[in-house]
Amino acid sequence: MQDDLIQKIREMHQYCTPEGIATALKIPLEAVYTVLEGKPLKIENRQVGEKPIILVKAAASSHPQKCIAIIRAKGGIGASTLAVHLANTISGKLNVLLIDLNPNGGDTKQYVLDKGLHLGQTGSLVAIRLTDNFYFHYPQPGEVKDSIKKAKENFDAIILDLPNAELKNLQEITQYCNTGIILLDTTLQGIEKLLSWHQMTALRSKFVVVNNGRQIETNEKILQELVQQFSDYDIEEGIYLPFSPELTDAFNRGDFVSRRSHYQEGVSSLVEAILPGLLNSKKSDTLFTKISRLFGGD
Ligand SMILES: Nc1ncnc2c1ncn2[C@@H]1O[C@H](COP(=O)(O)OP(=O)(O)OP(=O)(O)O)[C@@H](O)[C@H]1O
Ligand SMILES: [Mg+2]
Repeated sequence: MQDDLIQKIREMHQYCTPEGIATALKIPLEAVYTVLEGKPLKIENRQVGEKPIILVKAAASSHPQKCIAIIRAKGGIGASTLAVHLANTISGKLNVLLIDLNPNGGDTKQYVLDKGLHLGQTGSLVAIRLTDNFYFHYPQPGEVKDSIKKAKENFDAIILDLPNAELKNLQEITQYCNTGIILLDTTLQGIEKLLSWHQMTALRSKFVVVNNGRQIETNEKILQELVQQFSDYDIEEGIYLPFSPELTDAFNRGDFVSRRSHYQEGVSSLVEAILPGLLNSKKSDTLFTKISRLFGGD
């Protein structure tokens, strides 16, 4: 049924406008565009009284919506850098909103300044549009829950750059999220705090990221112990992000690191772990394989 319809729309497109196809087939125009753009279509069979009807809709995304909280126990360890690179990478395929919960919009602002960007209205949420699929939003204190709720109506993925805050606040905000990224630097400082938080939270899937932002010599043994520790805590995947000299410059310019950088490679592995199949790249490595392959950084 679905294949027949897709075939028919493609054939008709040789001699009909999309509007003409939608009228002739009595389907929404959006569904015609979806097929012509090669995106997935959702067909539902429903019964209205005696009459069976077929609903044709554009499937927004074949991935369940992700609301991702970046959680850390320490300041200055690369949370905002990870948040913007993660959002940028996912926005290649899905509609993404980055919410910065640090005071006054935090460091992610760097990525929207001087770009001549404008405010966009996405449903009832006002956000800054960086690209077609990538939006930023800075809620006022007290508006956070409302912003997340509105964001869920419009975005496939929502990424929260959380401040290095007290557990109580984290607990409250992560209630609205289904995915957690537990961010550590290579000293693993604050790990006890995160583990105790981890036991209390109801997040459905959790990932550990170790970022070598200060190029501190990484002790492989410590990282392996970390993986051991987390194996008791239902962590889906551990990803290592190497030091990237390119990043400081990129950060100051409000730019992203190049695709070839090992840092970006790590971010892509994380995306692949959170949203399997999204990037059509091979399955992500575990923390162990990342450590051995990426140990020296860029
Ligand atoms: N893997 C890395 N390699 C090199 N530099 C990095 C790396 N990760 C982060 N940095 C640099 O570290 C600095 C701090 O990063 P960032 O602002 O993202 O940290 P943060 O955790 O968000 O800080 P804050 O606690 O202030 O919110 C930035 O200059 C950034 O470019
Ligand atoms: Mg920050």
